[in-house]
Amino acid sequence: MSKGHFTCLLRGLWVLWLWQADLVSGSKLWEVPIALFGSFSNHTTSLEWEPQCQYPHLQDGIRITADIPPRLEGSWVSTRCEVRPGPEFLTRSYTFYPSHLFKALQHYYTDSGCEEPAYSLVARGKLRLRQASWITRGATKTEHHLHKVGIVIHSPGAMHQLAARLPSVCVGLTLGGMVPGRLYELYNARAGRDCLGASGYSMMELGLVRVETQHQPHGGLVQELFLGDVHTNWTQRTYYRPMGYQQPLQNAMHHIHPCPACALLFRASEQRPPVLPHVPAATSLSLDGRWVSQRCEARPSVLFLTRDFTFRPDEHSWEGLYRHYSEPTCSQPTFTLRASGHYAQGGPSAKVAGGTEFVFKVTRARVTVLEGATARVLNETRRGSCGKAGAWEVGVEQDVTPTDGCTVLGIKLPHKEYELFKTELDHRRRTLLFIGERPTDGSSPDRPQKRPTSYQAALVHCCEEDTPTSQRHTNQLKLAASGTSNLPRLPFFVLVLVSLLWGWYCVF
Ligand SMILES: *[C@@H]1O[C@H](CO)[C@@H](O)[C@H](O)[C@H]1NC(C)=O
Ligand SMILES: *[C@@H]1O[C@H](CO)[C@@H](O)[C@H](O)[C@H]1NC(C)=O
Ligand SMILES: *[C@@H]1O[C@H](CO)[C@@H](O)[C@H](O)[C@H]1NC(C)=O
Repeated sequence: MSKGHFTCLLRGLWVLWLWQADLVSGSKLWEVPIALFGSFSNHTTSLEWEPQCQYPHLQDGIRITADIPPRLEGSWVSTRCEVRPGPEFLTRSYTFYPSHLFKALQHYYTDSGCEEPAYSLVARGKLRLRQASWITRGATKTEHHLHKVGIVIHSPGAMHQLAARLPSVCVGLTLGGMVPGRLYELYNARAGRDCLGASGYSMMELGLVRVETQHQPHGGLVQELFLGDVHTNWTQRTYYRPMGYQQPLQNAMHHIHPCPACALLFRASEQRPPVLPHVPAATSLSLDGRWVSQRCEARPSVLFLTRDFTFRPDEHSWEGLYRHYSEPTCSQPTFTLRASGHYAQGGPSAKVAGGTEFVFKVTRARVTVLEGATARVLNETRRGSCGKAGAWEVGVEQDVTPTDGCTVLGIKLPHKEYELFKTELDHRRRTLLFIGERPTDGSSPDRPQKRPTSYQAALVHCCEEDTPTSQRHTNQLKLAASGTSNLPRLPFFVLVLVSLLWGWYCVF
């Protein structure tokens, strides 16, 4: 539900940044000035994130640092069964060696709990860090070369699942004749064998990396590896250059405890895929109450935000508060959007096991600008296109409902979205809410065919006793030791102009 509107805007920002890069470096677009990278390189960006709902264990705050460029050496594993657009259910276990070589293991499953392995893919190759990303601030761009990719099928059933995707005869092996448990080579750079094209497999996710270290109050360390996002459109995933992230992998040595999946994944191999422990399905999904982001979230096309939702099932109503920021620690706010409306809960998804279908209607939107330049741009908008022209002020909320949204911000009211939700328990037995992934192209899932088949980062449920007092707390992001002052400020007005010039029209 986080709405593709700003993604459209931020495509403008993307163009703008490329343009800036061009001005600064005076050469080709993709050559980012080394000086910028240098200014990032020895800084760790830190923040303390205090979620709005207070939990006893979080009261002291967790300090997060991110080294740029990141240190990738080590083994990184999934902490749960992951869902990719399609859907595909998988677990990942990637190892990076000091020699820049890597081994990436992906285990695919036939079920949404990752209990029935279908096949495993093992890729070996070389990865080099390149430069700080202009598009996704805080991320480092890389270049990778695959050496070999192999596949091991674990069940005869998986063969049928694959048959649709892999060419039935590829480099001399007939899919029907594959023996479960034996490794078959799909790709070998040296031997010139390439059966990947048709399989939809790629390691484009390695194109964008970020490592965050959480310093726990009691002294423990948790390290997370963010890799590039996978395009929600199957036909584009093999060439899409990531601009956002997938859910992070955790370091096999420094992960959150307990993590039953971590140990299983660390010990697994392509021949012995991990079988995740059975998690009893919730009898029914209840949205009641308040749900908040667990961290500063990054979106494809340069957007950093936190989300905060309240659902009232008895009234079928919801409200979402999206706080937008210009950089990856969520410390420089640009604006907040408060959207509300009604929703209807449908049945279990036929396409994505474990998911539940919803239809959301957005009928009201309010915007608070938190930055001078943006306020000035909105002030100049055509009368009747975005709230009261001339009445925009920093820190003052404006209702944009009477103008049917805000053209400049790409908000159109009323608006309908087809959604996919699921809930799960985390390692502390808190309830997590997963909301459907946004289409990567920045569009909105405004038709049933565009309903998501994968999920965004989980929101965590606020305890009952937190909700009434929550108004008192504001999201506080304390910069402990910061490199963010070196980041260029977001010239928001320019991107608005650029987006207008390009004439993107995005619905809410
Ligand atoms: C980065 O910081 C570390 C520790 O503060 C220091 O040892 C190292 O020399 C610095 N590197 C550069 C390139 O400045
Ligand atoms: C996926 O991408 C292809 C190629 O760009 C496009 O033709 C198709 O309409 C897209 N599908 C969806 C559902 O957006
Ligand atoms: C918006 O316009 C009004 C009236 O012209 C003006 O008083 C106000 O200062 C402007 N606000 C900003 C942020 O420019």
